[in-house]
Amino acid sequence: MLHRIIPILAAATLATTAQAGEVAPGDVKIVDGAIAASLTGEPGDAERGKAAFVGRKAGNCLACHVVTELLDEQQFHGEIGPPLDGVADIYSAAELRAQIVDSKVANPATIMPAFYRETGLNRVPDAFKGTILSAQQVEDIVAYLGTLKGE
Ligand code: HEC
Repeated sequence: MLHRIIPILAAATLATTAQAGEVAPGDVKIVDGAIAASLTGEPGDAERGKAAFVGRKAGNCLACHVVTELLDEQQFHGEIGPPLDGVADIYSAAELRAQIVDSKVANPATIMPAFYRETGLNRVPDAFKGTILSAQQVEDIVAYLGTLKGE
């Protein structure tokens, strides 16, 4: 039975597999804490990125991070990670992309999930392999974070 149950669990937690024209998770190169180029080859969309950032079944970034401009509209900001206010003043888009794709590269001990890396589970059928966020969602969130600048 177990071999039937595991793929179902995987499908419930892993949203997406890479689409044509995107950099596949296994091909992503993080160099000096940064990923220079867009994973989709296109800039992301900040409005969609905000939705993916707050979405409890997408990035769910507010589980661990406060964003002051979202306090009025979104409940339950976590304080496990640092507030992301002004994060675009500190980090480049390339650095923000790397942090979202695989936070473990900057800090192997971090509890922040790697959002664009395959799980490393063996024996899972290809149809159930995937990442928490799609390449497009990563790019959209990078674009949203780019709007978080100091006053
Ligand atoms: C389970 C908690 C958790 C979740 C969920 C989470 N993070 Fe994090 N994040 C952290 C922690 C903890 C850090 C502090 C750095 C470290 O641990 O290496 C961090 C650091 C960061 C940083 C660097 C901030 C700085 O000032 O250095 C960025 C940017 C970031 N997270 C973005 C995101 C985004 C975007 C999402 C959603 C896609 C997200 N995080 C989801 C826990 C989380």
